[in-house]
Amino acid sequence: MRVLHIGMVIFGAYWGTANAEVSIVPHPVELTRTRGGFTLTPHTNITVDSAFKDKMLGTMLAGYLSPSTGFPFSQVKTGGTIQIKKIRPTKLLGTEGYRLSVTRKQIIIESPTRAGAFYGLQTLRQLLPPEIFASSKQEGVLWTIPCMDIVDYPRFQWRGLLMDVSRHFMDLDYIKRFIDQLALHKLNTLHWHLCDNPAWRIEIKSYPKLTSEGSSKSRTINYGKPMFYTQEQIREVVQYAADRQINIVPEIEIPGHSGAAIRAYPEFGARDEQGKLGDVFNIRDETITALKTILDEVIELFPSSYIHCGGDEVWHTWVWEVDAESKAKAQRLGLEGAHNIQTWLMNEMGSYLESKGRRMVGWGEIAGEKLNTNIVVMAWRKGGETGVSSAKKRFDVVMAPEKYTYFDRRQARDEEGYTKAVLTTEEVYAFNPAFPHALTSAEAQHILGVQGQLWSEKIPTGKRMDYMAYPRACALAEIGWSPQERRSYKNFQKRLETHLYRLDQLKVNYRPVSVK
Ligand code: ACM
Repeated sequence: MRVLHIGMVIFGAYWGTANAEVSIVPHPVELTRTRGGFTLTPHTNITVDSAFKDKMLGTMLAGYLSPSTGFPFSQVKTGGTIQIKKIRPTKLLGTEGYRLSVTRKQIIIESPTRAGAFYGLQTLRQLLPPEIFASSKQEGVLWTIPCMDIVDYPRFQWRGLLMDVSRHFMDLDYIKRFIDQLALHKLNTLHWHLCDNPAWRIEIKSYPKLTSEGSSKSRTINYGKPMFYTQEQIREVVQYAADRQINIVPEIEIPGHSGAAIRAYPEFGARDEQGKLGDVFNIRDETITALKTILDEVIELFPSSYIHCGGDEVWHTWVWEVDAESKAKAQRLGLEGAHNIQTWLMNEMGSYLESKGRRMVGWGEIAGEKLNTNIVVMAWRKGGETGVSSAKKRFDVVMAPEKYTYFDRRQARDEEGYTKAVLTTEEVYAFNPAFPHALTSAEAQHILGVQGQLWSEKIPTGKRMDYMAYPRACALAEIGWSPQERRSYKNFQKRLETHLYRLDQLKVNYRPVSVK
């Protein structure tokens, strides 16, 4: 025992910082430590394989490492001490995986794809002392990484967060910061909830009143002033996100939650017996043509293969049976009952998107026998049961259940949230989107992934958005990325201590874990 103990002391001294804790969030698939460490110096430089046709990866890496180290990290054509290499595709690494090797002399990140290389960069940042995330030069830090080999790739292809900008508008600077943080956690989808009853936030040139009328008369914090994103701003955000491997899925709510659009264009709304408008579109030919024109502009702005068309909480579908023109149209189409009318409408929009090479996503309510199976079901009610039943019917599914992923819920009883329900980080972490007790592995192939929701009724500022998102989004990122058998809440909690120190450097206003 004594010999072993002395051995361990020598071992410790010999390895030096190589014994430092490694705390990567989300946890990588495989990590093997080897001898020694690599230390960043003013001479450390970067080579990005020309096959990536993208010098930006190197610029981004330098941008991540320069401010806190004060080193330049210049890019060199060949032989850099940090190398980002493109390799042949492998089944294991897929479209987002990478290998990272740290030796005493070199760091090599290898991937068949830009996405994988980018995730290699995110891991590399997290291997350095947390001070690397500071925005100004840090004195007295030894920038050493323990030597190791990592093989890493995601469990799910859809790893998202929903940001609701209808209830409360978020400015471009905040959205970019938010995207930076998604990237750090290897999340790849921003579901942008751009319109709802309080406000319409996306400029549509064919229907200018959507924003001139529909973005202002709302209970938003910017009450009385049109607050929306111009098409130019949207392009800027889409590009900013794409540079960080994040796909933005825009949501245009159809046919419910459409109060803002109906305020702007009353002719789109279904009317009740008293002639009153609510928040549901009618199904007149002209309205459907208008919705397709709106989607045309949305498609132009967003390269995403998925376009979200809402479909949730259409409380007032009965209006289709009293709204004269909707009623006549339903009869003409031989559609009986509100649910059939909605299914027809979602299929109509889904087919339109499909004809443009896109796929529609809709909330769980749209699921049913007659729904076009090309449409993706986003399961939100309760624990995600609709997602399970839809996957069994061969629908692709994104799991977004309120029980585990509604981050508008408070994190403790005495905090503010949209509902009384509490959702802790530990409860989020416990979620397994593959439902192994309910789905066969073939059925589970239909689970595209997982998403957290930041509905913003009670989230007036970016600071509050941070508070509601983190650290729960760290848990969500790990659900989406790390193999189930690698996940342990205890181990996550330990890594989170270091990780929150990183978020401190990034000035993310997360909820401290010490608060009970
Ligand atoms: C939802 O929460 N209505 C999707």
